[in-house]
Amino acid sequence: MSDKVWGGRFSEPTDAFVEAFTESVSFDQRLYAADIEGSIAHSKMLSATGVLDDEEAAAIENGLRTIKADIDAGTFVWDQALEDVHMNIESALTRQIGDAGKKLHTGRSRNDQVATATRLYLRGEIDDIQGLIAALGAHLSKLALDHADDIMPGFTHLQPAQCVTLGHHLLAWAAMLARDAERLTDLRKRVNQMPLGSAALAGTSVPVDRNLTAKLLGFEGMCDNSLDAVSDRDFLIEFASSAAILMMHLSRWCEELILWSSERFGFVELADRFTTGSSIMPQKKNPDVPELIRGKTARVYGHLMSLLTIMKAQPLAYNRDNQEDKMPLFDTVDTLKACLCAMKGICEHLKFDVEAMRETASHGLLEATDLAEYLVQKGTPFRDAHHIIGAIVREANARAIRLADFSLEELRAHSDLIEADALPCLTPEGSVRARNHLGGTAPAQVKRAAETAIERWRSRLL
Ligand code: ARG
Repeated sequence: MSDKVWGGRFSEPTDAFVEAFTESVSFDQRLYAADIEGSIAHSKMLSATGVLDDEEAAAIENGLRTIKADIDAGTFVWDQALEDVHMNIESALTRQIGDAGKKLHTGRSRNDQVATATRLYLRGEIDDIQGLIAALGAHLSKLALDHADDIMPGFTHLQPAQCVTLGHHLLAWAAMLARDAERLTDLRKRVNQMPLGSAALAGTSVPVDRNLTAKLLGFEGMCDNSLDAVSDRDFLIEFASSAAILMMHLSRWCEELILWSSERFGFVELADRFTTGSSIMPQKKNPDVPELIRGKTARVYGHLMSLLTIMKAQPLAYNRDNQEDKMPLFDTVDTLKACLCAMKGICEHLKFDVEAMRETASHGLLEATDLAEYLVQKGTPFRDAHHIIGAIVREANARAIRLADFSLEELRAHSDLIEADALPCLTPEGSVRARNHLGGTAPAQVKRAAETAIERWRSRLL
């Protein structure tokens, strides 16, 4: 009474609503290449263990390759009645090669099949994403090298704090990105473990050689408990959480670019081709691309929350809830890739106004800490030095002048430890040059750090 592959025990056809409600082929067809790769390896393994004969295995492999070509070409017809990507492909195979096709699903279940396909798919996407990250990192580091000498105000609390170099600021972005790449490298090992052989939940009595299948599919290891293998999606959660952190970083940079490109800052101009206009205000040029990256961060956070919530109350082993993991996963991948490309495009067309940056850095009192540190080097305890310089700052504010405008005598009125050699550190150049240590903002350090970073990103790109 039911024409489903699982329909033997059913006495009536599936309700049309239920068929539409339970289907996943409309979205999980994205797994087709991974699914076919998994099936070919599985059938090779079954022929090695004698479950399939050579002819059957060859027919299955050829059939699956033809189906893949059809899907690649867009001529394959997906059928909702066949539920998901796995059954659509299996049923096409049986239509094509006859009874041998029905033997493919031996010693496995859709439960280990879908877990395998999802892992293979994600492994490929991680590799693509790593390429995009490295390209962006390399570009940022190159920009940092170009701007190793350019001075800007560094901020805390969004208040001008101390002088830094633009190169140093850009390398801060690249450092965040390097950790993002590291996180992906680390979690890839856990993605790259093979569930096949776990079957529905308890393993299989059919002779299987899991090591052979894993080798054919390039898995680094095997999920070592069948119940866990078919059910847990923690590898997706790890990916989504790393994706959320990466998006958080992109969003922070975008926030800065939005501020910097505002008229008040005037530090940077985004290229026309990476901005949009207003439908009503003819003068407007809006940073919509960075704003959208900032906005899209929210949906990636949401996907992480979805995946965590899908998993949280599931008893062992597989439950259909897990079918809901696909949409958040795919959209996380798509959003991440698009935002990395957009960010690279933005960065390739930035026009920094280094004059405006330097100008802003020099009309404040950003060298106050330098002067305090000068006194410290003359033996003044830092807390006392802070107080003395605080009084100088108060005087500067009252007279509406910069620290560099004080004469030596005027400074010495606050502390007679101040001598002529203090004056060079009262310029932005002197200030950054003095921070000449590993991780510091001195141009020499920034150049060295940028060169190291460029090398690292290039080697990742290879
Ligand atoms: N489409 C399903 C999923 O994504 C495949 C596994 C279905 N297994 C089952 N026993 N119904 O999870």
